[in-house]
Amino acid sequence: MCEKNVLVAVDGQTVELKVRSGTIGPDVVDIGSLYKQTKMFTYDPGFTSTASCESKITYIDGDEGVLLHRGYPIEQLAEHADFLEVCYLLLYGELPTKAQKSDFGDRLTRHTMVHEQMSRFFTGYRRDAHPMAVMVGTVGALSAFYHDSTDITDPHQRMIASLRMVAKMPTIAAMAYKYHVGQPFIYPQNDLDYASNFLRMCFAVPCEEYVVNPVLARAMDRILILHADHEQNASTSTVRLAGSSGANPFACIAAGIACLWGPAHGGANEAALNMLAEIGTVDRIPEYVARAKDKNDPFRLMGFGHRVYKNYDPRAKIMQKTMYEVLDAAGHSDDPLMKVALELEKIALSDKYFIEKKLYPNVDFYSGITLRALGFPATMFTVLFALARTVGWIAQWNEMIQDPDQRIGRPRQLYTGEAKREHVPISQR
Ligand code: CMC
Repeated sequence: MCEKNVLVAVDGQTVELKVRSGTIGPDVVDIGSLYKQTKMFTYDPGFTSTASCESKITYIDGDEGVLLHRGYPIEQLAEHADFLEVCYLLLYGELPTKAQKSDFGDRLTRHTMVHEQMSRFFTGYRRDAHPMAVMVGTVGALSAFYHDSTDITDPHQRMIASLRMVAKMPTIAAMAYKYHVGQPFIYPQNDLDYASNFLRMCFAVPCEEYVVNPVLARAMDRILILHADHEQNASTSTVRLAGSSGANPFACIAAGIACLWGPAHGGANEAALNMLAEIGTVDRIPEYVARAKDKNDPFRLMGFGHRVYKNYDPRAKIMQKTMYEVLDAAGHSDDPLMKVALELEKIALSDKYFIEKKLYPNVDFYSGITLRALGFPATMFTVLFALARTVGWIAQWNEMIQDPDQRIGRPRQLYTGEAKREHVPISQR
């Protein structure tokens, strides 16, 4: 793989470092030998210039606004594939044939129920707990229920744990929702597709028939596709780092969910909707845009900006289209928050501050309005993100476990605390 080297001058000494090239995207300088050669570390908080691993799963070109899964553009997957096919693609590297898809669907279906004891586990949570708190706890607890798939050295157990995770996550997410709203849990119905089954588990009640609206089910499926993976983002890196110590996959995914919760990451969809509601009307937009630009005000336009995309997030475009479809199907085409969002986007995209900093709407900008029209409260938005991202996390975790270069993740630091000093007895302090 090594095609060229770079020479780095350190204190008069020249050090040669390998450069590695991927299929597409920037080359990387392999600094693995830097410390050995120079006794120096590199410093890159936030990993803005650091590739943490090699991966074959997802590629992003942030300047061009391109997102590929295993080489396939997100636009094509969202238009022509369903979530099950995208799951297969992420996990196995290729789109499934008809027979492979059917077999994969059958295997997932066998794992959609959760251990019955888990429903009693739920009652330990406070009734008003945030569903993300419930998700972190419950997914972490899966390793207590499924000991037989926690040996990460066994490929069969890894495969079973992966299927369990993808299959059970809708059931757990729906249980978190039902617990949140005080309704009885609804069991999975395995003759429904992934998205329809999830909507039914969320919105059906035992006392009446529930028929899934196919337009809403297709929209839900597309939302899952849009969030399925996004290379080495904060939560995925968390999953990989947790897994690098040999922790079991259920614990690693729980760590990923915890990281996703933050408002700078998956929590942005909830924060974006709350922000649009707070703005309320189009005439108040300039006030909020001014606040977002004010360095003395911590306020940011939620659903705007991205570490990697310095162009329109391709997922945001598809999400906007999905928003129109859902609002139409749900009879909310005059949603006042949609008007605020569209106008806010227009104003921000013609503002010098946002143009210069290359801040564009990201996937979370329109997802809140869409999810709300699907019937979900804002507190569930990040849960839905976690549900969709589970397959990406688990694909990345599997890739890491099988990577021959994999070692425990252990960053170094620039120490700026006290130098060595002598202990002073408490009586003399
Ligand atoms: N509103 C106003 N200013 C912003 C925003 C924003 N949403 N985002 C970035 N900036 C400014 C920021 O103040 C900084 O200005 P300066 O250079 O003058 O200090 C500059 O743009 C660069 O921002 P940064 O914070 O250094 O960039 P980052 O790559 O560390 O952060 C981000 C990326 C997504 C955390 C950030 O853009 C943000 O906080 N956005 C709002 C939250 C959000 O929508 N998050 C969802 C991300 S997409 C889904 C996901 O990955 O989960």
